Amino acid sequence: MSEKLALHGGERVVPEGLVKPWPYVTEADRKAVMAVFDSAAITDQQRVQSEGLAREFADYLGVKHCIAVNSGTAALHMCVASLGIGPGDEVIVPAFTFWATAAAVLHHNAIPVFVDIDPRTYCIDPALIEPALTEQTRAIMPVHIHGLSADMDPILEVAERHGLAVIEDVAQAHGARYKGRMCGAMGHAAGFSTQASKTLSSGCQGGLFATDDDAVYERADQIQYFGERVVVGREREEQEYNARGLGWMYRGDMFSQAFVRSQLKRLDENNALRAENCRYLTEHLSELPGIQTPHVPEECGHVYYNYVVGFDPEALGLDVSARTLRDEAQEALKAEGVNVGLWQRRSVPAQDIFQSREGYGKGCPWRCTDSQVTYNIEDYPRANEFLDSHCYVYGINPPNDLELMGMYVEAFRKVTENIEQALD
Ligand SMILES: Cc1ncc(COP(=O)(O)O)c(C=O)c1O
Repeated sequence: MSEKLALHGGERVVPEGLVKPWPYVTEADRKAVMAVFDSAAITDQQRVQSEGLAREFADYLGVKHCIAVNSGTAALHMCVASLGIGPGDEVIVPAFTFWATAAAVLHHNAIPVFVDIDPRTYCIDPALIEPALTEQTRAIMPVHIHGLSADMDPILEVAERHGLAVIEDVAQAHGARYKGRMCGAMGHAAGFSTQASKTLSSGCQGGLFATDDDAVYERADQIQYFGERVVVGREREEQEYNARGLGWMYRGDMFSQAFVRSQLKRLDENNALRAENCRYLTEHLSELPGIQTPHVPEECGHVYYNYVVGFDPEALGLDVSARTLRDEAQEALKAEGVNVGLWQRRSVPAQDIFQSREGYGKGCPWRCTDSQVTYNIEDYPRANEFLDSHCYVYGINPPNDLELMGMYVEAFRKVTENIEQALD
């Protein structure tokens, strides 16, 4: 017997107000932030918090150096700049990511060259990297998308063979692992985001740069501080006021850094709780016809920044496109109280800036570097297919737990079993 979908006036599966927001704030978080106000000299806290966070995160990752900055994009730009990538140099970037990955390249007048994704993991496909290399290629920038590591060994191998740098975009994958190694500790430098939604969240904006290389660290440190030698906390005595090269003001703020430091203490615990929620979803949703759940290669420790599901009309015996099924099912799931939605709407090369090749003006950086790189939307069929057929299941973060996940599964069952009602 068919059940009436909430979309058509039936009772919703997930009661209103049950999905708890991320990040949740504890008493320890409050104390950590208030301690910044309560310190003897608040002006000294910028140094105390940024150095403290940098040290603790470097230790967490197992690398020598970290710099706490004001965004993940800033951290990625610091990677590009500190590795000596410059005007006209090409950097390999996945066609599916948040576009800041490519923006960090453009910020240094370098040129992103996009490569399609692996259709199972949605990370860059290492097999497609070598054919995209040219005389101008200087680096590869894998993104550990949704909290799952890119397939790093073949990427590192191609980079080594061609003398290229590897920059890890770890904006979405704090604590994720690949063959036991930490994401962000495998390449030459890495950029993390602590923007509000991230698994290590500042509640606002923030980022972390990481590297094991002393010289790369020295350059990055200068780049984030106006191009000057950094003397945080000793400016009056020691600042030279001598820009040694072009730099930016990428310093992070102390209140959000205090909050991030407090949360770092329970990052692994939160990752484990989120993974438990997601494994439960996979176990049960994979039994439903027409629903595709995330593929996790054996060698990867997924931290599930995002949980994505795909829709397969054929498996449901439906003669509609995956996009139509996804869109209609999504509306029905929302009505049932499941927090679902879309993230990226198109591949990065399909975005206006790449289609027009109009960057920061006068066609630069393409025109001013005489770049011949072009962006054909059809060259990235897997990214396009992913974007047409998947949606995101939100509300997977703790303190949401298996009770909510159970309701989510029930709502998916109800919608898939009554999908004709949604498609009417
Ligand atoms: C994959 C990816 N790269 C880079 C960024 C940029 O980070 P931020 O927003 O902190 O600048 C983000 C996040 O927003 C991201 O998801």
